[in-house]
Amino acid sequence: MTKTIEINVRPCVKADLEKVMAVERAVYGDQCYNQYFFRQVLDLYPNLFLIATNQAGHVMGYVLGALGEDANKGWILSLAVGQFYTKQGVGSLLTDQILEVLKGKNVDEILLTVDPENDIAMNLYERQGFVEIDSEGDYYQPDEKRVVLRLEL
Ligand SMILES: CC(C)(COP(=O)(O)OP(=O)(O)OC[C@H]1O[C@@H](n2cnc3c(N)ncnc32)[C@H](O)[C@@H]1OP(=O)(O)O)[C@@H](O)C(=O)NCCC(=O)NCCS
Repeated sequence: MTKTIEINVRPCVKADLEKVMAVERAVYGDQCYNQYFFRQVLDLYPNLFLIATNQAGHVMGYVLGALGEDANKGWILSLAVGQFYTKQGVGSLLTDQILEVLKGKNVDEILLTVDPENDIAMNLYERQGFVEIDSEGDYYQPDEKRVVLRLEL
């Protein structure tokens, strides 16, 4: 019998931030965003900061969208799923949902950057229709390469 899990996606609220931080730390370690960043993002983009929870209310993952200063550009800034919840469709569902919200903002394109060696994320985004448009060898710091992916709407 296949076990089906319940995944609920909704906007993050302040009371969720500690749990989001726990996922962030577990997934990204010392490369993670900090609590100040997440708190301010909540003020800036309350409808573009989504979390996935399970039936028990645990935060399984989150996705962070943003709008460019040029408001026809949407961004996916970050996506993370906790180690116990991967390979259950959470990352794909969060991506589907943030794309829907961003499309509702009437953007013409959605951009993101990803480590080209991150095959799981690259495949996930490519399945959504993202294509590589650029790359930077030192995007965050020397030797930290990222490719820029775009979904044209
Ligand atoms: C990338 C990430 C968000 C995917 O989350 P997820 O919830 O496991 O994704 P899904 O369950 O929706 O799986 C998407 C696909 O990836 C595959 N996949 C997920 N984890 C995998 C793994 N460890 N090994 C192989 N394939 C994997 C799934 O099988 C699925 O493929 P399918 O659609 O062909 O069945 C998650 O692995 C993660 O948080 N990684 C670390 C942070 C990161 O890389 N974020 C993106 C940075 S831009």
